[in-house]
Amino acid sequence: MSESQSIQWFPGHMTKTKRQIEKTLKLVDAVAEIVDARVPVSSRNPILHKLIQGKPRVILLNKADMADPQQTARWIAYYKEKGITAIAVDCRSGKGMNQFIPTVRSVLKDKIASWERKGMVGRTIRVMVVGIPNVGKSSMINRLSKGSKAVVEDRPGVTRNNRWFTITKDFELLDTPGVLWPKFEDKTVGEHLAFTGAVKDAVVDVEQLAARLIETLRELYPNALTSRYKLDGLDLSAMQGYEILEAIGRSRGMLISGGEINTERAAIAVLDEFRGAKLGRITLEQVRA
Ligand code: G4P
Repeated sequence: MSESQSIQWFPGHMTKTKRQIEKTLKLVDAVAEIVDARVPVSSRNPILHKLIQGKPRVILLNKADMADPQQTARWIAYYKEKGITAIAVDCRSGKGMNQFIPTVRSVLKDKIASWERKGMVGRTIRVMVVGIPNVGKSSMINRLSKGSKAVVEDRPGVTRNNRWFTITKDFELLDTPGVLWPKFEDKTVGEHLAFTGAVKDAVVDVEQLAARLIETLRELYPNALTSRYKLDGLDLSAMQGYEILEAIGRSRGMLISGGEINTERAAIAVLDEFRGAKLGRITLEQVRA
């Protein structure tokens, strides 16, 4: 069972994570916030920005291998305008990860210079990795730590069981203390996280979900739908998502006895293929040019 399935989001749980992060922030020099490059807004924790105010930060637009590269570049420019450094990474293959440590060092360059002036040359840089479940935290940490085990430490004055990973002799990562929640009370956020599979299908109606995904794709990447599912000749703009889903089932020959379309099978196919980037590299939350 994945984390997102097993977690009960209740206020006590959120308060605890918030407190753990507040306390642990004192131990780190910077925060690495991982988001899903396909849904960079919905995959953020709603209070993190306020929580880490004043801490140097790097945003990792992860799963960039599945996101629209043009949009990822726009997101990086968008953050840059706000004074935040963002980088595109693929923590599964490791692509882009070689930028991570140099980027953190560059974000911290004034601090590092001031340490050096005080004689602390080569002082260890400590970074907290934060992100909502399924965004790729473990993949990122595993890749950087090359699978070496976490050192569980109880540094003075902090919560027990902070998981520290030594990456190089002067660079350490701390896994998120607690579990960060998404802004799940927002319908679009819930939907987008369900599209990407961050929220599991067990809790949603797959046909309804696929129909909504189809409507979203029709707005943003109509050609991806038409070419993948051979829908040429149909006026998608005049159809409901569910009707397009039926057309996809028909086009794929997904029929049940009596010639009826197996829309559930079609829905599962659309969701799986979107999540596997078979429809191409797609970003559902976009920065307008
Ligand atoms: P978490 O610790 O934040 O909860 O996330 P985790 O690293 O477990 O990643 C969640 C899923 O996302 C995993 O897939 C992982 O392989 C995948 N993933 C992480 N980073 C990337 C990336 O940059 N690109 C792509 N394409 N996928 C990524 P899974 O299906 O749950 O597991 P598995 O099939 O990899 O075993």
